[in-house]
Amino acid sequence: MLTQNQISDYDRDGFLVIENFIGEADCDRLRSRAAELVHEFDARGVMSIFSTHEQTRTSDEYFLESGDKIRFFFEENAFLPDGRLRQSKERSINKIGHALHDLDPVFNEFSRTEKIKELTAELGIVEPLLLQSMYIFKQPHIGGEVTCHQDATFLFTEPLRILGLWFALEDATTENGCLWAIRGGHRLGLKSRFVRVDGGGTRFEVLDKSPWPEESLRPLEVSKGSLIILHCLLPHLSRENRSNKSRHAYTLHIIDARSRYPATNWLRRSATMPLRGF
Ligand code: FE2
Repeated sequence: MLTQNQISDYDRDGFLVIENFIGEADCDRLRSRAAELVHEFDARGVMSIFSTHEQTRTSDEYFLESGDKIRFFFEENAFLPDGRLRQSKERSINKIGHALHDLDPVFNEFSRTEKIKELTAELGIVEPLLLQSMYIFKQPHIGGEVTCHQDATFLFTEPLRILGLWFALEDATTENGCLWAIRGGHRLGLKSRFVRVDGGGTRFEVLDKSPWPEESLRPLEVSKGSLIILHCLLPHLSRENRSNKSRHAYTLHIIDARSRYPATNWLRRSATMPLRGF
């Protein structure tokens, strides 16, 4: 799957872009499946707003229980002051997570191709387990920002063996909120961990207080069908989407069963739904 040059670029930069990794038809199939799921979702009574800001997340059981479910999270700006949705339900969902790859046949098939399996092996994951999947909408006009972070803050193994795969299902540009990353920033070390605490809830455990060198962030503009491979320590973000175009993406996080997966991770699986490989 990957050339030696691509592997060394990934080691040097902490990310790798592969254009045309998936075909138009596969992108469109995921998009229509996600649209169906949202259509079937009964939004009444479920007003969990996705946010990377600590306050919202810590109090959010709906989020914390979603590791082995298909759940729907609203954009922070989805609601009017009176609690009604500003736009249609279809234009208000921030993302779907976090076990689409195990629970939905279309996402399962997409996530477990021979191509992805090979690529994962070539990047050093020997005993792969598909941990987390997200369908991200980045809605027109209200698509919220995701502040600078490392994925290992939210998903942690010892030693760190976590691969992030980011599939562009539409063109992603600076206009509609593409990813931005600090090239080589995966060598800066892990800055924090998002952990569960005894008695319920979560908190950020700060390991390094120094700020990100955000002036080094560069946009990763990619076309529909591209794959961005992300090192779990790569600092990255995405800005608000104020444009009239959505920016749909599907992400998959794969860990290695040789590493320990601490129980302090927010994402948990019930005993009846253990993690699986390809
Ligand atoms: Fe991320």
